[in-house]
Amino acid sequence: MKKLFAKKNRACIDKDKLPRHIAIIMDGNGRWAKKRGLARSAGHYAGSERFRSAAKYLQKLGVEHFTVYAFSTENWKRPKEEVDGIFSLLEKYLYEAINDLKDDNIVLSFWGDISPLSPKLIELIEETNELSKKNNGMHVNICLNYGGRAEITRAVKSIANDCAAGVLNPDDISDEVIENRLYSKNTPPPDLLIRPGGETRISNFLLWQLAYSEMVFTDTLWPDLTDDKLEEIIISFQQRNRRFGGL
Ligand code: IPE
Ligand code: IPE
Ligand code: MG
Repeated sequence: MKKLFAKKNRACIDKDKLPRHIAIIMDGNGRWAKKRGLARSAGHYAGSERFRSAAKYLQKLGVEHFTVYAFSTENWKRPKEEVDGIFSLLEKYLYEAINDLKDDNIVLSFWGDISPLSPKLIELIEETNELSKKNNGMHVNICLNYGGRAEITRAVKSIANDCAAGVLNPDDISDEVIENRLYSKNTPPPDLLIRPGGETRISNFLLWQLAYSEMVFTDTLWPDLTDDKLEEIIISFQQRNRRFGGL
């Protein structure tokens, strides 16, 4: 099985040391399009196709959780035309995902506040959530109108409400109590965060969960981050020494 992912004269992925959870900030779509003289929307389309292929590749590899940053709480600052374009791509993806969900056997979840999205999108998201319950393959988490700060604020509000109602004692607040109120509840933290697109920042992604993630920043733009490049990144991750504060 190990040989399956080996390339001639190249190191290969050690299937016994796979990251359980990979998170990706899918950045660089706009620049990818600009380089080709295309509209930014073409970059978002290419980025969405890359996401589908990457999910298939990572599932085949045996990765258990794949979390992607698709639209941040700050991305509303973009021109309406671009925002509308991103959401119509999402709608197209959801129609296709609903059709393929049984065969793909992925468990699709959406992290973030979906309430400002269109009723149609909310309905499609609810349908994918329902269909996903029958699946037991890789968990794919799409962060939509997601912000790490908003996620933590939401958890704090819920804890404060429970304390005020007398059902939670402030002395009992622990990391676990907080984690159970995050979108990532029941998901191990990312072992590996990848940010294509050349920026070396987190941009409000998974602020709590990334505490001990290994990070890889690459200049490659998201639509160009092929499965081969993902493989190279996973191999480099496997060579790191994770100490978690120990020796
Ligand atoms: C990431 O690509 C996709 C979203 C933020 C929705 P960008 O659209 O940020 O692409 P660049 O960074 O402008 O190239
Ligand atoms: C981060 O990319 C958000 C997503 C990829 C969805 P941005 O392009 O929005 O981040 P900044 O503006 O470079 O920090
Ligand atoms: Mg960007």
